[in-house]
Amino acid sequence: MPFLTIGDNLFEVGAIHPDRILFDCLMPTPHGTTYNAYLIVGKDKTALIDTVDPEKTSVLMDNLAEAGVDHIDYIVSLHTEQDHSGSIETVLRKYPEAIVVANAKVKEMAITHLHLAEDKIKLIAEGDKLELGGKTLQFTMIPFAHWPDNYMAHLLEDNILFSSDLFGSHFSSPNKAFSTSSSDQVRAAKHYYAEIMMPYRTHVQKYVAKVRQMGPRMIAPSHGPIWSDPEVILSGYERWTGDAVKRLVTIPYISMHDSTRVMVDRLAVKLSEQGLSVVCRNLGEDTNSMAVETGHFITDLVDAAAVVFASSTVLGGPHPAVAYAALVANAMRPKTKFFGLIGSFGWGTQITNIVNTLTANLKVERLDPVLVKGLPRDEDLKHIDALAKDLADKILALPELTR
Ligand code: FEO
Repeated sequence: MPFLTIGDNLFEVGAIHPDRILFDCLMPTPHGTTYNAYLIVGKDKTALIDTVDPEKTSVLMDNLAEAGVDHIDYIVSLHTEQDHSGSIETVLRKYPEAIVVANAKVKEMAITHLHLAEDKIKLIAEGDKLELGGKTLQFTMIPFAHWPDNYMAHLLEDNILFSSDLFGSHFSSPNKAFSTSSSDQVRAAKHYYAEIMMPYRTHVQKYVAKVRQMGPRMIAPSHGPIWSDPEVILSGYERWTGDAVKRLVTIPYISMHDSTRVMVDRLAVKLSEQGLSVVCRNLGEDTNSMAVETGHFITDLVDAAAVVFASSTVLGGPHPAVAYAALVANAMRPKTKFFGLIGSFGWGTQITNIVNTLTANLKVERLDPVLVKGLPRDEDLKHIDALAKDLADKILALPELTR
C-alpha cells in the first residue's frame, strides 16, 4: 500500500512487512510488522519523522516520490535502531538539503552506528520546539523506552503524538496505519510490550502518565497501526506497567517421556480447582515451539502472579528449551511474584541450581521445588498438590490482584 493521509498535510509514508516472521532474531511476529515513517508538510518546512528498515528503503522512496515530495528540510530521528534509521543515508542522498534532528543520544548513536556526519545533525532537547509553519513539533525524552535514545514528537496543532517504539506493535494490516482496536492487535501490542518495554517497566510507567497528561487525540507509534483511540493503548499500558498481577500461573514445560507432563497436568488441575487461571506452554511440541511458545510465555509474564518451570533433566540440567525460556524471562524482569520448579529425572539432577542461576534477576519468592525420580507415583503427586495449595494461598492473599 502506498502512502496514507492521516491528517491535513500529514502522511504515513513507511512500509509494511507482513511476511516478517521474526524480529531481532528472537521475537516471533505472526502478524508481520510495519516501519512507520510520517511526513509533515508545514507552510515553511517539510519534516520526515523516522525512516524504515533497510530492507524496505525502496518502498519509502517510492512513497515519497508518489506523494510528490521534492524537498525535505528535516529528518526527525526519534530512535537510532536500524529499523527506523536504516534508510536515513538513502533519504539524504535523494534529499541532500535535509538535516537530521536528534537528541544527544540519537546523535551519538547515529555517528557510531550509521557513520552519519556530525554537521548533518541538529541537536534538540526536552521541551524544544521545531517550527514548520503552522505545524509545530515539541519533543519529550523517553530514555529506555527501550534504548537510551528514544524520544517523542508532539505535533501541537493537530494534537498527534509520534511516540517512537512506545505503544508500538508488530502488526501489519492491509489498511496500514489506522487502528482497528481488534483483540488481535491489542494482543500484538501486549506481546510487543512484553519483549521490548517490560524490562524498563518503571520508566515506561512514568512515560504513560506523562502521555496521559499530554492528552493526544491520536498516538502514532513507529510500528503497527496508529491508535486513533488512544484510550485503548493507554489503559492497556497502565494495566501492564501497574503493580497488580492476575491470578494466573504460567507453566513453560518440556516433557521428554511424559513423566514431567504428568506433574504439569496434576499441577494445572489443582491450581484450577483453587480458582486460578493456568496456561501450560509446551516448548517442545515441534521445531518452532521453543521460539513461539517462549514468546507467548513472556507475554504471560506481563501480568502472571506466578511462573512454574517444568522440565525433564537432560545431562544433569534443565532441557535447553527450558533453560532458554528461563534466560529470556530473567532478562525481561517481569513483576511476577512467585516461582516454582518441578520435573522428573532419570538418575540425578542439578536442575534447581542451574534454573535458579539462570533466573537470578527475578524478584520472586521461590517455593520448594518438586523433583521426582522417574514416573511420578501417588505419593509424589501429593507433593504437587501441596505446591498447588501453597501457591494458591499465596497468590490469593496478594493485596493487588486482578482477574
Ligand atoms: Fe523499532 Fe527499537 O526499533
